[in-house]
Amino acid sequence: MHTSVLLKESVDSLHIQNGAKYIDATLGAGGHTEEILRRGGLVLGIEADPKMLEIARKRVGEACPTLFLGNFRDIASIAHEHGFEKVSGVLFDLGISSVHLDSDPRGFSFRNPNASLDMRLNTEAQGVTAADLLNSLDKTQLTILFESKLIAQKVVESRKNKPFESVGDFLSLFGQKWGKIHPATKPFMMLRIAVNTEYENLSSALSQAFELLKKNGKLVVISFHSGEDRIVKSFFKKVEDSGEAKMEDFVRPADEEIIKNPRARSAKMRVLTKLNEK
Ligand SMILES: C[S@@+](CC[C@H](N)C(=O)[O-])C[C@H]1O[C@@H](n2cnc3c(N)ncnc32)[C@H](O)[C@@H]1O
Repeated sequence: MHTSVLLKESVDSLHIQNGAKYIDATLGAGGHTEEILRRGGLVLGIEADPKMLEIARKRVGEACPTLFLGNFRDIASIAHEHGFEKVSGVLFDLGISSVHLDSDPRGFSFRNPNASLDMRLNTEAQGVTAADLLNSLDKTQLTILFESKLIAQKVVESRKNKPFESVGDFLSLFGQKWGKIHPATKPFMMLRIAVNTEYENLSSALSQAFELLKKNGKLVVISFHSGEDRIVKSFFKKVEDSGEAKMEDFVRPADEEIIKNPRARSAKMRVLTKLNEK
């Protein structure tokens, strides 16, 4: 099961008011939504992966009927469709969940070498798998994707012998784990980011989410690596510089949380308050 990261801190930052509306743009297993509901908020939950939506519905669906399959890059239209156009807060808890990493057959984790190299959050809505990218991008595109000429070269060499199909095929490009972090960790993440167009989705969603906020509404984003945080920070700074919002200092999980849930170690939470409604 997924343990929600920065649960108390993020929901505290939303300043939940009884009967007010909030959007959980990354519903996942429903942990943050459950806490917002417990404190009296109404939630519109958005989740890109049908499997995760099912898990969340089992957990909180009875208390919260407004949980939908969708991509947060469409957050404005989803919110309008369901009467959540003026909200008191929007939460993004980015990336994938522990459910994806621990037990999903779509190849999100390199711990299961026999899994197919798919990585799509929604296999119905998305056509291109991780294996497709490795088998079809040219060397320049692969260099951009992995920020590494060496990995791009290895991919091109390897697919001459055999097309990429499984996690093991991709894993074989990297050496054994010798330090704390496996050398395939970052390339795996970069491949997943490309398959699910994560940076494009986030950039588009943040400005839409900000528009949906009421005066004093909160935009709370938990990111897990510098690529995500750069996008969040630059958007927050842009609206702060324009005088429309106020940004708080970022928050990291306390040591006790990291000891209980080591996956929280890279989390960084940023909070933005909207100053005026247009
Ligand atoms: C870190 S998990 C969220 C966990 C959740 N906050 C909880 O406490 O259970 C992130 C979730 O966002 C979903 N997700 C990722 N990108 C998305 C997108 N563009 N639109 C909607 N959901 C997305 C993933 O499928 C995953 O279930």
